[in-house]
Amino acid sequence: MGKRLIIAIDGYSSCGKSTFARLIAKELNYIYIDSGAMYRAVTLFCMRRNYITLTVLNKTGIIDELKDIHIDFVFNPDINEYETFLNSENIENEIRNMAVTSLVSKISQIPEVRERMVELQRQIGVSKGIVMDGRDIGTVVFPDADIKIFMTASVDIRAKRRHNELKNKGVNIEFEEIKRTIIARDIADENRDISPLRRANDALILDNSRMTVEEQMLWINEIIEKKIHGG
Ligand code: DC
Repeated sequence: MGKRLIIAIDGYSSCGKSTFARLIAKELNYIYIDSGAMYRAVTLFCMRRNYITLTVLNKTGIIDELKDIHIDFVFNPDINEYETFLNSENIENEIRNMAVTSLVSKISQIPEVRERMVELQRQIGVSKGIVMDGRDIGTVVFPDADIKIFMTASVDIRAKRRHNELKNKGVNIEFEEIKRTIIARDIADENRDISPLRRANDALILDNSRMTVEEQMLWINEIIEKKIHGG
């Protein structure tokens, strides 16, 4: 068995980061951590306490309770995936809903929230053998990661993929609306004051606009092979 790696995957929203990260983790038998799910879990916690609504943001309340927020990723063998737990409750589905999605960027901008999440993420990473995806993994969380990938794809392609995904789930949202949301999220991610989305100098760029998942896996497997066995 070769060396166990830390693999950091950052990039724009709806680029296929989690699909890619999950597959890599499965191939290597590593843990997959979706850092976005952690910000979503904090958002859900705060929504339930009314610390955040479309018009309210009670930062003091949120910061005071951060120590009571426990997030775990538990492997579910029935679906062969990790699921997100908030204080022992499975919240995997709830954190993907529109209400959480529309509020999460306000929560992820609070410095104290980020500090706490980064601390938890580093704790999870101590035993190595981990693939983590997010926005600041290669820049802030694991600046010494063994492999850093920065994922991107054209806005139109990302919107088209998301549109198809939602259509398959029976959700009817106009393509143009999805595209607008993606553009707005890119702007928010790139322009926030704390840990904005940016490529680490030593991150490899993966533009998957015209690549299949299989092609992306062939690309990364070559990089992993070199890291683990040298050459
Ligand atoms: O990847 P996602 O859409 O689940 O991320 C949810 C939100 O959390 C999104 O607004 C970006 C933010 N996020 C972040 O600020 N830092 C991370 N490492 C991961 C996600």
